[in-house]
Amino acid sequence: NSEDGQAEDYLFKIVLIGDSAVGKSNLLARFARDEFYPNSKSTIGVEFQTQKLNIDGKEIKAQIWDTAGQERFRAVTSAYYRGAVGALLVYDISRRQTFDSVGRWLNELHTYSDMNVITVLVGNKSDLKDAREVSAAEGKTLAEAQGLFFMETSALDSSNVAAAFRTVVKEIY
Ligand code: GTP
Ligand code: MG
Repeated sequence: NSEDGQAEDYLFKIVLIGDSAVGKSNLLARFARDEFYPNSKSTIGVEFQTQKLNIDGKEIKAQIWDTAGQERFRAVTSAYYRGAVGALLVYDISRRQTFDSVGRWLNELHTYSDMNVITVLVGNKSDLKDAREVSAAEGKTLAEAQGLFFMETSALDSSNVAAAFRTVVKEIY
C-alpha cells in the first residue's frame, strides 16, 4: 500500500523462540524501543512489533513476533510460525538447561515452518559473566552443526542486539 509499491516487497516475519525467561521479550524491547525491563513478566499469548531496517540502502520492515516460552501461555503454535522467514532461537548463557532445549525448539521450528527459515542461535545475557554456564565456543559449535548463525547478546547492556536482528534480516534479504 505504499505509493511507489516498494516497501511492500520487503516485509519479513521473524519469530522469537526459546525457553521462558531467556530474554526474548527484552531483546525485542531493546531492539524496537531501546528499553529494558529488569522485572518483566512472562509473555502471555502473542505480541509483535514492526521495525524498519535499512539494508544496503533498501528499507526493510521486520515484523518480529514474540510469544511465551512456556507451553501453557502459548497461542496456537502453527499460527505463530506461519509465514516466518527468519527466527531468533534464544537461550540464556547462565542457564544450561535453556541451551539443552535448543534441539527441541529446532524440531518445533522445522515442524511448523519452512525448512529454509534463516535462523540465528542467540546466547543472551552475555553480561552475566560470573554466572556463565555455556561457553561461546559451545554455542558456536552447536550452531555450525545445525547450520545456524550464532551470536551472543545482552538485552541489558545492548551488545549485539541490533546485530542479531540485522543478521537474520540481511540473510533473508
Ligand atoms: P517468556 O515470555 O516467559 O518466554 O520469557 P522471555 O524469554 O520473554 O524473557 P524476558 O524478556 O521476559 O526476560 C526474563 C528475565 O531476564 C527478566 O527479568 C529480564 O530482565 C531478564 N533479562 C533479559 N535479558 C537479559 C540480559 O541480557 N541480561 C540480564 N542480566 N538479564 C536479562
Ligand atoms: Mg516474553
